[in-house]
Amino acid sequence: MSGFDTSWLDLREPADRAARDARLLAAAAAATGSTPGALIVDLGCGTGSTFRALNGSLPAPTAWRFLDNDPALLAQAGERCGAAVDLRRTDLAALGAADLAGARLVTASALFDLVSRRFVEHLAGLLSRDKPALYAALSYDGTASFDEPHPLDGAVVEAFNRHQRSDKGFGPALGPDATQTLAAVLQAEGYRVETADSPWVLGPDQMALQQATLDGFAQAVAETQTLAAEEVALWHAHRKAAAARGVGCRIGHSDLLAVPTL
Ligand SMILES: C[S@@+](CC[C@H](N)C(=O)[O-])C[C@H]1O[C@@H](n2cnc3c(N)ncnc32)[C@H](O)[C@@H]1O
Repeated sequence: MSGFDTSWLDLREPADRAARDARLLAAAAAATGSTPGALIVDLGCGTGSTFRALNGSLPAPTAWRFLDNDPALLAQAGERCGAAVDLRRTDLAALGAADLAGARLVTASALFDLVSRRFVEHLAGLLSRDKPALYAALSYDGTASFDEPHPLDGAVVEAFNRHQRSDKGFGPALGPDATQTLAAVLQAEGYRVETADSPWVLGPDQMALQQATLDGFAQAVAETQTLAAEEVALWHAHRKAAAARGVGCRIGHSDLLAVPTL
């Protein structure tokens, strides 16, 4: 089980959809080609948000394979995305060639900041066989800023980023370095790589997501034990009250599209 629940994924999906870089999303869709039946393999599919983001822009009907290790999320994905999707309970830490076999496009959203450099190198080796395109959206980029600063913001974001680099089941996580690492490794494999910022820009209309994000920051920072518990509590209470007053924030993410050149 992964620890990502449906309610959190549902909360973030509209912000993710708004944040995705439109040009890279369209280019990812185009990379599936105009011949019906191209296969898209979605890594860490959750309930299928990448499917919902891409499906309306695809030039021809495609087949989808969803990989996730969480059976509850896979079941939700099956209910929401239709019976034709091939649902596979898979531990991505043990990803093999058969999981990607036949793919024209490999996708992932909000996944690559969880994985390690070793996983990216292993994935690049698997991709080098059939050379599908790769669309990796919404990797956290290490930046978080608030419309009204607080003196503890810098220390909190630094501690949060430290937590982001801890092991999430793949070895030391890339966290804020995800997109850069992926770009460098795939360029070395002969891919043409484009990246774009895809930040959440959250205001009063996304109050529930802001509050949940602040809770997540506070919990992660507390786990690092790099700040005194009183400081974390002070920052958390201040930030939640500020968000309730309408103070917005920007949480940085980036998107990547890698297309084979050969
Ligand atoms: C942040 S969620 C993103 C879900 C979905 N892509 C989205 O954007 O809503 C990360 C996803 O990766 C999956 N995941 C994490 N570690 C995994 C692993 N070792 N094997 C397979 N799936 C994993 C989780 O179950 C979860 O669905």
